[in-house]
Amino acid sequence: MSQDAAKQAAAEAALQYVVPGEILGVGTGSTVNYFIDALARVRSTIPGAASSSEASTARLKAAGIEVVDLNDAGTLSIYVDGADEADRHLRLIKGGGGALTREKIVAAASRKFVCIADESKLVDVLGKFPLPVEVIPMARSYVARELVRLGGIPKLREHCITDNGNVILDVTGLAITDPVRMETEIGLLAGVVTVGLFARRPADVLLLGSPSGVRELQR
Ligand code: A5P
Repeated sequence: MSQDAAKQAAAEAALQYVVPGEILGVGTGSTVNYFIDALARVRSTIPGAASSSEASTARLKAAGIEVVDLNDAGTLSIYVDGADEADRHLRLIKGGGGALTREKIVAAASRKFVCIADESKLVDVLGKFPLPVEVIPMARSYVARELVRLGGIPKLREHCITDNGNVILDVTGLAITDPVRMETEIGLLAGVVTVGLFARRPADVLLLGSPSGVRELQR
Protein backbone atom coordinates (compact mmCIF):
# COMPACT_ATOMS: atom_id res chain seq x y z
CA MET A 1 0.00 0.00 0.00
CA SER A 2 1.38 3.40 -0.97
CA GLN A 3 1.58 6.33 1.45
CA ASP A 4 -1.21 8.02 -0.53
CA ALA A 5 -3.45 4.97 -0.18
CA ALA A 6 -2.77 4.93 3.58
CA LYS A 7 -3.70 8.63 3.81
CA GLN A 8 -6.89 7.97 1.85
CA ALA A 9 -7.84 5.03 4.09
CA ALA A 10 -7.45 7.18 7.22
CA ALA A 11 -9.46 9.99 5.57
CA GLU A 12 -12.29 7.62 4.64
CA ALA A 13 -12.36 6.26 8.20
CA ALA A 14 -12.93 9.78 9.56
CA LEU A 15 -16.32 9.93 7.83
CA GLN A 16 -17.78 7.84 10.70
CA TYR A 17 -17.22 10.83 13.01
CA VAL A 18 -19.15 13.32 10.88
CA VAL A 19 -22.33 14.29 12.73
CA PRO A 20 -25.31 14.60 10.35
CA GLY A 21 -26.93 18.03 10.49
CA GLU A 22 -23.88 19.72 12.05
CA ILE A 23 -21.19 21.99 10.68
CA LEU A 24 -17.72 20.45 11.01
CA GLY A 25 -14.20 21.86 10.93
CA VAL A 26 -11.89 20.91 8.09
CA GLY A 27 -8.09 21.12 8.20
CA THR A 28 -5.48 21.39 5.49
CA GLY A 29 -3.09 19.15 3.58
CA SER A 30 -2.92 16.16 1.28
CA THR A 31 -4.63 13.79 3.76
CA VAL A 32 -7.43 16.29 4.33
CA ASN A 33 -7.84 16.60 0.57
CA TYR A 34 -8.84 12.92 0.54
CA PHE A 35 -11.22 13.65 3.40
CA ILE A 36 -12.84 16.51 1.45
CA ASP A 37 -13.29 14.16 -1.51
CA ALA A 38 -15.01 11.64 0.81
CA LEU A 39 -17.09 14.38 2.43
CA ALA A 40 -18.41 15.39 -0.98
CA ARG A 41 -20.26 12.06 -1.14
CA VAL A 42 -22.22 12.89 2.03
CA ARG A 43 -22.50 16.64 1.52
CA SER A 44 -26.30 16.58 1.59
CA THR A 45 -26.15 15.44 5.25
CA ILE A 46 -24.20 18.48 6.53
CA PRO A 47 -25.04 22.19 6.46
CA GLY A 48 -21.43 23.18 5.74
CA ALA A 49 -17.84 23.30 6.93
CA ALA A 50 -15.54 25.81 8.66
CA SER A 51 -12.23 25.83 6.82
CA SER A 52 -8.67 26.25 8.11
CA SER A 53 -7.09 27.65 4.94
CA GLU A 54 -7.72 29.32 1.61
CA ALA A 55 -6.62 26.08 -0.08
CA SER A 56 -9.19 23.95 1.77
CA THR A 57 -11.86 26.60 1.23
CA ALA A 58 -11.32 26.37 -2.52
CA ARG A 59 -11.41 22.57 -2.46
CA LEU A 60 -14.53 22.46 -0.29
CA LYS A 61 -16.35 24.87 -2.60
CA ALA A 62 -15.29 22.89 -5.67
CA ALA A 63 -16.76 19.80 -3.98
CA GLY A 64 -20.08 21.60 -3.54
CA ILE A 65 -19.73 21.99 0.23
CA GLU A 66 -20.75 25.32 1.73
CA VAL A 67 -17.98 27.09 3.62
CA VAL A 68 -19.18 28.74 6.83
CA ASP A 69 -17.45 31.57 8.73
CA LEU A 70 -16.23 30.13 12.05
CA ASN A 71 -17.67 33.19 13.81
CA ASP A 72 -21.14 32.13 12.71
CA ALA A 73 -20.71 28.43 13.47
CA GLY A 74 -20.48 28.28 17.29
CA THR A 75 -18.70 25.31 18.82
CA LEU A 76 -18.09 22.61 16.22
CA SER A 77 -18.82 18.95 16.94
CA ILE A 78 -15.69 17.70 15.18
CA TYR A 79 -12.55 18.93 13.49
CA VAL A 80 -10.74 16.68 11.02
CA ASP A 81 -7.13 17.45 10.15
CA GLY A 82 -3.80 15.83 9.34
CA ALA A 83 -0.44 16.12 11.09
CA ASP A 84 3.25 16.13 10.33
CA GLU A 85 4.05 14.10 13.45
CA ALA A 86 1.99 12.54 16.24
CA ASP A 87 3.03 10.87 19.48
CA ARG A 88 1.12 8.28 21.49
CA HIS A 89 -0.46 10.98 23.64
CA LEU A 90 -1.91 12.39 20.40
CA ARG A 91 0.19 15.52 20.68
CA LEU A 92 1.09 16.80 17.24
CA ILE A 93 3.45 18.84 15.12
CA LYS A 94 1.52 20.66 12.43
CA GLY A 95 2.13 23.46 9.98
CA GLY A 96 4.09 21.74 7.25
CA GLY A 97 1.51 23.20 4.89
CA GLY A 98 1.72 26.61 6.54
CA ALA A 99 -1.88 26.67 7.83
CA LEU A 100 -1.09 26.17 11.52
CA THR A 101 -2.73 29.32 12.89
CA ARG A 102 -6.17 28.78 11.42
CA GLU A 103 -5.85 25.06 12.14
CA LYS A 104 -5.21 25.77 15.81
CA ILE A 105 -8.16 28.15 15.94
CA VAL A 106 -10.60 25.68 14.40
CA ALA A 107 -9.24 22.84 16.59
CA ALA A 108 -9.74 25.01 19.69
CA ALA A 109 -13.32 25.74 18.66
CA SER A 110 -14.18 22.03 18.28
CA ARG A 111 -15.33 19.45 20.83
CA LYS A 112 -13.55 16.53 19.15
CA PHE A 113 -10.36 16.64 17.09
CA VAL A 114 -10.01 13.67 14.73
CA CYS A 115 -6.48 13.49 13.31
CA ILE A 116 -5.90 11.52 10.11
CA ALA A 117 -2.49 10.38 8.90
CA ASP A 118 -0.52 7.52 7.47
CA GLU A 119 1.33 5.44 10.05
CA SER A 120 4.73 6.98 9.23
CA LYS A 121 3.63 10.10 11.15
CA LEU A 122 3.60 8.25 14.51
CA VAL A 123 6.79 8.91 16.50
CA ASP A 124 8.05 8.22 20.02
CA VAL A 125 9.26 11.78 20.59
CA LEU A 126 8.15 14.82 18.61
CA GLY A 127 10.75 16.95 16.89
CA LYS A 128 12.35 15.18 13.97
CA PHE A 129 10.02 17.11 11.69
CA PRO A 130 11.09 20.79 11.77
CA LEU A 131 8.74 22.69 14.10
CA PRO A 132 6.89 25.46 12.21
CA VAL A 133 6.52 28.79 14.02
CA GLU A 134 4.39 31.51 12.39
CA VAL A 135 5.82 34.95 13.13
CA ILE A 136 4.85 38.57 12.47
CA PRO A 137 7.38 39.65 9.78
CA MET A 138 9.02 42.45 11.85
CA ALA A 139 9.71 39.97 14.69
CA ARG A 140 11.47 37.42 12.48
CA SER A 141 15.05 38.11 13.64
CA TYR A 142 14.16 38.58 17.31
CA VAL A 143 12.16 35.34 17.44
CA ALA A 144 14.93 33.49 15.58
CA ARG A 145 17.46 34.61 18.21
CA GLU A 146 15.17 33.46 21.02
CA LEU A 147 14.67 30.09 19.33
CA VAL A 148 18.46 29.67 19.17
CA ARG A 149 18.58 30.48 22.89
CA LEU A 150 16.10 27.62 23.42
CA GLY A 151 18.47 25.26 21.58
CA GLY A 152 16.82 25.32 18.16
CA ILE A 153 18.09 26.05 14.67
CA PRO A 154 15.49 28.25 12.94
CA LYS A 155 15.30 28.55 9.17
CA LEU A 156 13.06 31.01 7.36
CA ARG A 157 10.68 29.12 5.05
CA GLU A 158 11.41 30.47 1.59
CA HIS A 159 8.72 31.93 -0.66
CA CYS A 160 6.11 31.45 2.04
CA ILE A 161 3.66 34.08 3.24
CA THR A 162 0.83 32.58 5.29
CA ASP A 163 -2.88 33.19 4.73
CA ASN A 164 -2.50 35.73 7.58
CA GLY A 165 0.36 37.66 5.93
CA ASN A 166 3.09 36.29 8.19
CA VAL A 167 6.30 34.28 7.76
CA ILE A 168 7.27 30.85 9.06
CA LEU A 169 10.44 29.77 10.83
CA ASP A 170 11.05 26.00 10.66
CA VAL A 171 13.01 24.94 13.73
CA THR A 172 15.22 21.86 13.95
CA GLY A 173 17.38 20.61 16.80
CA LEU A 174 14.81 21.03 19.57
CA ALA A 175 14.45 18.24 22.12
CA ILE A 176 10.69 18.27 22.55
CA THR A 177 10.49 16.12 25.67
CA ASP A 178 7.86 18.37 27.26
CA PRO A 179 5.62 19.51 24.36
CA VAL A 180 3.13 21.42 26.54
CA ARG A 181 5.90 23.45 28.12
CA MET A 182 7.59 24.14 24.80
CA GLU A 183 4.32 25.16 23.18
CA THR A 184 3.75 27.64 25.99
CA GLU A 185 7.32 28.94 26.04
CA ILE A 186 7.58 29.57 22.30
CA GLY A 187 3.99 30.80 22.10
CA LEU A 188 4.72 33.53 24.64
CA LEU A 189 7.58 35.07 22.63
CA ALA A 190 6.64 38.53 21.38
CA GLY A 191 5.87 38.34 17.67
CA VAL A 192 5.00 34.63 17.60
CA VAL A 193 1.52 34.15 16.20
CA THR A 194 1.35 30.36 16.49
CA VAL A 195 3.72 27.51 17.24
CA GLY A 196 2.96 24.31 15.37
CA LEU A 197 2.87 22.18 18.53
CA PHE A 198 -0.62 20.94 19.30
CA ALA A 199 -0.02 19.64 22.83
CA ARG A 200 -2.16 21.85 25.06
CA ARG A 201 -5.06 20.87 22.81
CA PRO A 202 -4.00 17.54 21.31
CA ALA A 203 -6.10 15.34 19.05
CA ASP A 204 -8.79 13.19 20.68
CA VAL A 205 -8.72 10.45 18.05
CA LEU A 206 -5.84 9.47 15.77
CA LEU A 207 -6.67 7.41 12.69
CA LEU A 208 -3.51 5.88 11.20
CA GLY A 209 -3.69 4.34 7.75
CA SER A 210 -1.40 1.36 7.07
CA PRO A 211 -1.26 -1.71 4.80
CA SER A 212 -3.01 -3.74 7.53
CA GLY A 213 -5.91 -1.28 7.76
CA VAL A 214 -6.71 1.80 9.82
CA ARG A 215 -5.57 1.81 13.44
CA GLU A 216 -7.42 4.02 15.87
CA LEU A 217 -5.76 5.57 18.92
CA GLN A 218 -7.87 7.40 21.50
CA ARG A 219 -6.69 9.82 24.14
C1 A5P B 1 -0.92 22.06 7.28
O1 A5P B 1 -0.47 23.28 7.73
C2 A5P B 1 -0.44 20.97 8.15
O2 A5P B 1 -0.64 21.14 9.50
C3 A5P B 1 -0.96 19.63 7.70
O3 A5P B 1 -2.03 19.20 8.48
C4 A5P B 1 0.14 18.66 7.81
O4 A5P B 1 1.24 19.23 7.16
C5 A5P B 1 -0.20 17.31 7.21
O5 A5P B 1 -0.15 17.36 5.84
P1 A5P B 1 -0.29 16.09 4.93
O6 A5P B 1 -1.66 15.54 5.18
O7 A5P B 1 -0.15 16.64 3.53
O8 A5P B 1 0.78 15.13 5.29
